[in-house]
Amino acid sequence: MKYMSGNELRERFLKFFEERGHMRLPSASLIPQDDPTLLLIGAGMAPFKPFFTGKMKPPSPRVTTCQKCVRTGDIENVGRTARHHTYFEMLGDFSFGDYFKKEIIPWSWEFLTKELELPGDKLYITIHTSDDEAYQIWHDVVGIPDERIIRLEDNFWEIGSGPCGPCSEIHIDLGPERGCGKPDCGPDCDCGRFLELWNLVFTQFNQNEDGTYTPLEHKNIDTGAGLERIASVLQGKPSNFETDLIFPIIEYACKESGVAYNASPKSDVSLKVIADHARSLTFMIGDGILPSNLGRGYILRRVLRRAVRHGRLLGIDHEFLGGAVDVVVSMYGDHYPEIREKQDYIKKVIHMEESSFLKTLKSGCDMLDVEITKLQEAGKTELDGDVAFKLSDTFGFPKELTAEILEEHGMTLDEKGFAEALEVQRKMARDARDDKTGRPVLYNDRDLNAAELKVDEAAHAGKVMKIYPVADAQPVDAVSDGQDAAVILDVTGFHAEGGGQLGDIGVIKAPAGLMRVTKTKKLPDGVTYMAGTVEEGTIAVGDAVTYKVDTVRRSDIARNHTATHLLQAALRSVLGSHVNQAGSYVGPDRLHFDFSHFSQVTPEELAKVEKMVNEQILAAKTVTFEEVPIEEAKKRGAMALFGEKYGAVVRVVTVPDFSMELCGGVHVSNTAQIGLFKIVSESSTGAGVRRIEAVTGFGALQYVEGLEKTIGNVAAKLHCRNTDVEERLDVLLAETKDACQKVKALESKMAAAAASSAADRMKEIKGVNTLVQKVSVSDVNALRTMGDQLRDKTGGVVVLASVFENGKIGILAMAHKDAVAKGIHCGKIVKEVAAICGGGGGGRPDMAQAGGKDAEKVDEALQAAWGVVEGQIK
Ligand code: SER
Repeated sequence: MKYMSGNELRERFLKFFEERGHMRLPSASLIPQDDPTLLLIGAGMAPFKPFFTGKMKPPSPRVTTCQKCVRTGDIENVGRTARHHTYFEMLGDFSFGDYFKKEIIPWSWEFLTKELELPGDKLYITIHTSDDEAYQIWHDVVGIPDERIIRLEDNFWEIGSGPCGPCSEIHIDLGPERGCGKPDCGPDCDCGRFLELWNLVFTQFNQNEDGTYTPLEHKNIDTGAGLERIASVLQGKPSNFETDLIFPIIEYACKESGVAYNASPKSDVSLKVIADHARSLTFMIGDGILPSNLGRGYILRRVLRRAVRHGRLLGIDHEFLGGAVDVVVSMYGDHYPEIREKQDYIKKVIHMEESSFLKTLKSGCDMLDVEITKLQEAGKTELDGDVAFKLSDTFGFPKELTAEILEEHGMTLDEKGFAEALEVQRKMARDARDDKTGRPVLYNDRDLNAAELKVDEAAHAGKVMKIYPVADAQPVDAVSDGQDAAVILDVTGFHAEGGGQLGDIGVIKAPAGLMRVTKTKKLPDGVTYMAGTVEEGTIAVGDAVTYKVDTVRRSDIARNHTATHLLQAALRSVLGSHVNQAGSYVGPDRLHFDFSHFSQVTPEELAKVEKMVNEQILAAKTVTFEEVPIEEAKKRGAMALFGEKYGAVVRVVTVPDFSMELCGGVHVSNTAQIGLFKIVSESSTGAGVRRIEAVTGFGALQYVEGLEKTIGNVAAKLHCRNTDVEERLDVLLAETKDACQKVKALESKMAAAAASSAADRMKEIKGVNTLVQKVSVSDVNALRTMGDQLRDKTGGVVVLASVFENGKIGILAMAHKDAVAKGIHCGKIVKEVAAICGGGGGGRPDMAQAGGKDAEKVDEALQAAWGVVEGQIK
């Protein structure tokens, strides 16, 4: 066995396989490409999944790499064991449908025993229980004795969905002094005596998203060998941390903290965590990941915060991670030039995050200490979820850290309470958002000279001059992800909201952060600001930024804006010069235009206006823009907004021979770009003000598609073609009318029948024939028809009540003139009767009707009617 540096080992491996026909490829980025199943690359084979499955053709059927990997699943173990890392390098050689077991097994053996001169008699082989082919090659071809080939059921390699298969591992026996001493200790024991160096995966299956397996078209090889592990063996070190691939970073951390290595197990954990995490941070940021609260960005943030906290545990109270990056670059910059090129950038990102977290950490740790003491005094071991949430939400102290610190004190965190507090806060945030205008209150400082700030729609870059957190008027130096902010640049390409037209949206990219702009507005002094949310990293004053405006949306807005000018001119021409703008909305989806006019715009007038605007569009006129003194503009007759303040020099927007307006907004350069102008509604917004809503371009297309869809749906319901809808509907309406008439006739027949049977139940009270009856009819007309018939039949007084089809109650009283002569007053009868079922009404002595509400009281009300009638008869 010969000593070998980590860099030499990496090179030897790649060269060995190059000599065997492999194409050497550089490590892929840690950010997976086109693979939504992974957040980070965590295995040498991960970037090659499509080559294994046959989805894509590889650049060569044989490839060798040393791949940067990050795994954070068991981050808590880092520093506590000899081998756990968040960052590690995996040496790999791959066959995509090319060679298979009989080539790779002897090559693996040759590399380890000849090239690296590892003692063959100390190497143990594991294979999958069923893999006789691998057994035969290891045993017969390589010559491994039977007792050093172990069959294991577990030897099947897979990592979520993707290519997988049975595997064969090579372990080295580090000697009985490193082991548990149990008689059955072997390569499948995790006591540390046997160290896995090499994994050969015979990639033959694909694990599908649903967990099932499909055989791959061809058989592949995926070899993975941990660089740090092999280095630890070659360098005779007890753990990966002592190898030259990591130890210089530990030495750096010792220097920064003044704590020696091996001073105590606890401080060694912290030193190892810092060394491990410094590598992850450097490579992750080098590959373009920025701290954030989501996905990869969150992993990065968590790793960085853990490193800072372990620094504090060692007594480091200043920023130190930038120095660790320098060490990592000095160790790895030759093989991974990207981190050398981006060294300053990586340090800048780290500085921003580290400095703000140090502040958080100090106050958070102090607060948590107080809470822990309180718990100890009370003899409790669980921290309230509410308290942990407050630490995280108000002070930015991460929950994972709280949990970790609690664990160090033998305590736990009330996870359920934490989740509940989080939900309450989310709800409050949602409610607050609903009624907030989202407009920041900004005061422009005197130190910002508005005249020196430029708006240039063609620009793509500028410098950050001011930053305001949205909830506060005081400027700040920097904002980080998750925060809402407004930013002022020296040169902006974003067009601000104004004159009814919405402002631009887009993205601002800073060296160490990204902000999504959702609004562009102007301050009272004319300075443009962009407001939105920082989604990744940090944006700071002084940053040189680039930006991208959503130009597709801006074109939609431009179409609607020029169309608004055309609409105003057409309205004045069709309706008269009293038409003046009273407000407008110009968005990407539609426009509306409010104007003074005293009656509804008739359909004919609307059609004329619409045609006139479309004529201007079809004439494909060039729109011109001129900056002229205001007096000159007025002299030319340009339309100005009533009540709007204009500067000394104004911009005149002209559509030749049709419209001329003072306007600072965005417009098309030729009217033909508007496409189609379509009015969708005309309405009133107040006394003397009308509103026309219209769409253009893609908005018009969408509108037409919507209409087409509606007609299509109606046609489908009518079982006819789109073109036959009208005819089919006419037939249907005629049929319905006919059916209604038939129902009416039927109802009156039924009423007559009901009347004749009801008449049989009539009683004579003091010489007046009286009928009180609950009936069932559809509406008040039917009730009256029935009342008429029954009054004639009885020749006395009739009181009827019915619950109608619509659920309402109708009460009716009708009396013959003879009954009226005897004292009957229908108005009074229904008034009393209706009151019982919660209603009211009245009427003449011979006829009255009323409503009621309470259907359950109808019987009781009618029962009372008998007495009311009796009481009236003289
Ligand atoms: N895919 C296997 C591993 O990651 C071998 O490369 O261990």
